[in-house]
Amino acid sequence: MNDITCKLQREAERIASRHPLPGFYTRFKAELGVAKRLFYNHPEVLRLRGIVEPEYNETLGHGVYHSSRVSIDCAALLHIETDGNHMDPSAVEQLMVVGIYAGVLHDICRDQQNHAQSGAEKAKVVLLNFSLSQEEILSISEAIRNHEAFASSESSGPQWAQLISDCLYDADKFRWGADTFTHMLWHMMDYQSISPRELIGKFPWGMSGAASIIDTFRTATGRQFGPEIVENGLTIGKEIYRYLIEHY
Ligand SMILES: [Fe+2]
Ligand SMILES: [Fe+2]
Repeated sequence: MNDITCKLQREAERIASRHPLPGFYTRFKAELGVAKRLFYNHPEVLRLRGIVEPEYNETLGHGVYHSSRVSIDCAALLHIETDGNHMDPSAVEQLMVVGIYAGVLHDICRDQQNHAQSGAEKAKVVLLNFSLSQEEILSISEAIRNHEAFASSESSGPQWAQLISDCLYDADKFRWGADTFTHMLWHMMDYQSISPRELIGKFPWGMSGAASIIDTFRTATGRQFGPEIVENGLTIGKEIYRYLIEHY
């Protein structure tokens, strides 16, 4: 990343740090804590990450940072959404692990056209070496196939499989909040060699795109907490836009 882009990213992080965390990240600290414990300690999750993460590049900001954030939020959403279902705790944990696998793998083909479709197929192959049922592998693959924004989503078999699909989608779209401006935007700018002046020109279009994701959340938790996450990002984005106009 060049010096100007680095400086802009640091400025964006400084602006973002002045804003309180959206409610999802304060209200569900316990569930996020369980998700993080699994993401950073579960032996099979670590094995999958060891295989998949070296294949990611930070093209357009959809690399390891992005997939880690999606994985953790996806598992936390699964925990939240199954609360009250009287499920065995070990079954909830297994569902969360499956959700993490989906998050780790979901953008593995990000640099290909139809990346959701290609990623869904590749995930099936990678997961053959893991102790998962055929249904679990299929549910991860279908969740990946259905994770693209503004694309129609196909029903994903049993209710728990549909839930994994919906949680993956919402966790991925939570990234359209602050993460867009603290992380993804600068990788995109760097990758496409966009100058600050060019970025200023594209900014309003990007902001309206981010706003339009608000109506697409698929889980009850996503619909309740997702809009605040996106709006928080848009507020940060407006400040960064003003900074760009003042300085470039
Ligand atoms: Fe994606
Ligand atoms: Fe993604």
